[in-house]
Amino acid sequence: MKPLIIALALVLAAPLPAAAHPRPPRDLRQLSQQTGIKIGSAVDIAALRAESDYRKTLNREFNHVTAENAMKWESVEPERGVYTWADADTLVDSARRNRQQVRGHTLVWHNQLPAWLTAGVADGSIDDAELRDILRDHITTQVRRYKGKIRAWDVVNEVVEEDGTMRQTIWLQHLGPGYIADAFRWAHRADPHAKLFINDYNLEWNAPKIETTLSIVKELQAQGVPIHGVGFQGHLGIQYDYPGDWANVMRRFADLGLEVAITELDVRMELPVTPEKLATQATYYSRAMTDCLSVRACREMTVWGYTDRHSWVPGWFEGQGAACLLDENLAPKPAYEALLAVKRPR
Ligand code: XIL
Repeated sequence: MKPLIIALALVLAAPLPAAAHPRPPRDLRQLSQQTGIKIGSAVDIAALRAESDYRKTLNREFNHVTAENAMKWESVEPERGVYTWADADTLVDSARRNRQQVRGHTLVWHNQLPAWLTAGVADGSIDDAELRDILRDHITTQVRRYKGKIRAWDVVNEVVEEDGTMRQTIWLQHLGPGYIADAFRWAHRADPHAKLFINDYNLEWNAPKIETTLSIVKELQAQGVPIHGVGFQGHLGIQYDYPGDWANVMRRFADLGLEVAITELDVRMELPVTPEKLATQATYYSRAMTDCLSVRACREMTVWGYTDRHSWVPGWFEGQGAACLLDENLAPKPAYEALLAVKRPR
């Protein structure tokens, strides 16, 4: 053989370096492609409409979106029978145009309920039978409206207390514990292809909450109830240790056949911001990604807002903030760079 042909043959036979060692991703969308983990953000609809830099960055970086508030009950039915879908529609339409999948958040929760509902239950004008009908109609109407457009629904949100007891909500108190199975069945009937999730916070580490949530899932499965996933909200803070057992907790749910998702990740800190705190924050974000990568069933990692310009943290945790990947000016923080640098075992 001529040397040229030999050389050519050697080059062709060599493993493709690009496949073995993919180039570092240029943004989160590329990271998502390389890892197979969908990367999402909660979306502030007012900002999406009004701020073109917010919109551009969201659509460049993320291939999954969740409405931060626009799909909650008080947003979609502020008066009884009066539906206000405009904000939720805006998100779903924007997602389709930008090739993003959508997480529906949330169908059954004890917060952000419309006043007509909570007041009606409190004064007895809505009795238990009617309340059940109202919940069924709510779930059916909302899930049907977005049928085929929502990849996954947070069907029930925060139903377990820190001590492992069931949270005392109007749903538990008036409908009994069967409301959870009902909610999943109704949602499934309205959109048989949507993945149906149970979602909670502190589920990353809180043992009583973990055990109770596992039992709920097992019981639902034993009854043949369609439940497909568990969402870990992942509201972390650097003043607490990183939840080091998180991947194992994910695996326990995965072993039941569930998909796992990180649904509301943010990492807050006591203000003021310092370079040290930002460096610590970066390790929390990259560890969350690494944990998700280490569990085959973990398919999605969504942050609860991607910029400190629009984050729920300062309004809810006194003296804390700076919880997001990008700062107020949409400049990447160390946490963003750390995510792009995560070693990718799969
Ligand atoms: C928060 C929103 O971010 C705020 O804008 C709103 O005022 C309150 O709710 N767990 C959840 C989310 O499941 O829906 C919450 O979102 C944050 C905690």
